Amino acid sequence: MSETADKRIDGKAVAANLRKEIAEKVKQRREKGLPAPGLAVVLVGEDPASQVYVGSKVRACEEVGFLSRNYRLDASTAEAELLALIDELNADPEIHGILVQLPLPKQIDVQSVIERINPKKDVDGFHPYNLGRLAGKAPTLRPCTPYGCMRLLEAYGIDPMGKNAVVIGASNIVGRPVALELLMARATVTVCHSKTKDLPGELARADIVIAAVGIPNFVKGEWLKPGAVVIDVGINRLETGKLVGDVDFESAYEKASAITPVPGGVGPMTIACLLQNTLEACEAIENA
Ligand SMILES: NC(=O)c1ccc[n+]([C@@H]2O[C@H](COP(=O)([O-])OP(=O)(O)OC[C@H]3O[C@@H](n4cnc5c(N)ncnc54)[C@H](OP(=O)(O)O)[C@@H]3O)[C@@H](O)[C@H]2O)c1
Repeated sequence: MSETADKRIDGKAVAANLRKEIAEKVKQRREKGLPAPGLAVVLVGEDPASQVYVGSKVRACEEVGFLSRNYRLDASTAEAELLALIDELNADPEIHGILVQLPLPKQIDVQSVIERINPKKDVDGFHPYNLGRLAGKAPTLRPCTPYGCMRLLEAYGIDPMGKNAVVIGASNIVGRPVALELLMARATVTVCHSKTKDLPGELARADIVIAAVGIPNFVKGEWLKPGAVVIDVGINRLETGKLVGDVDFESAYEKASAITPVPGGVGPMTIACLLQNTLEACEAIENA
């Protein structure tokens, strides 16, 4: 094995194992005469990146044997129309998970949409009920990307307990919930954002770094503590078409003890955790 292969956290492989476990559970359900978990994916508009993400999610669903329903709405769709579709899906017994792909067109209020989804079917984990449960150390459906980061650490035997963890980014979908996850795992957590005064100073003490900034190659290796574990959530497409993360991989690789590549790190885990959440939602609805 090359030196490079040693330090890489292989999200593709960890995600493939999780998908295999889920497919096996779906098979067992079907053998017992139980229905397949059902996921509805709603895309409003034609954002190219969203189309790619939605396509991957629908394919992943089909591969593990889920029922998948794909709703494509016009970019000019009124908020009331989207809310009516959510009401329909909330009431649909074949559907256990509802995912509305973000971002949404300007005329639609994102928070109203998130809060309209039945929290039991909120497989993105963005509803205030599910976020509140995570904040209260009693998680139900957990936001997929943060959950994916935690499962990657776990798969590599990296226990956050007692470690200094620095999260760069404070968004509702990644930075904040990943900070709650790390706190629940009993790390000492610092959350940095665009107003943070001395980011390199914060990173110099970080045993675990989670980068979710949205700026290509932003985090430099020279800012890292030697031996840090680096989880790069960023997905940025350069003008050349190349996909890169929020971490400058080459320089960070020199300093880190373990690091996720982009692509092939957190991205595949987000989708695998969406499947895991849909299976859990299905079981919880059945057992309610
Ligand atoms: N792998 C996956 O499955 C997955 C899933 C979701 C997102 N992503 C990727 O993750 C990245 C972040 O996504 P997001 O939705 O969280 O982005 P976002 O909503 O744009 O949030 C970016 C965060 O970074 C902070 N920030 C911006 N400039 C900064 C700077 N110079 N120093 C420190 N912090 C700074 C912002 O601070 P303020 O709060 O002060 O504005 C904000 O909290 C993107 O590349 C996105 O494509 C990947």
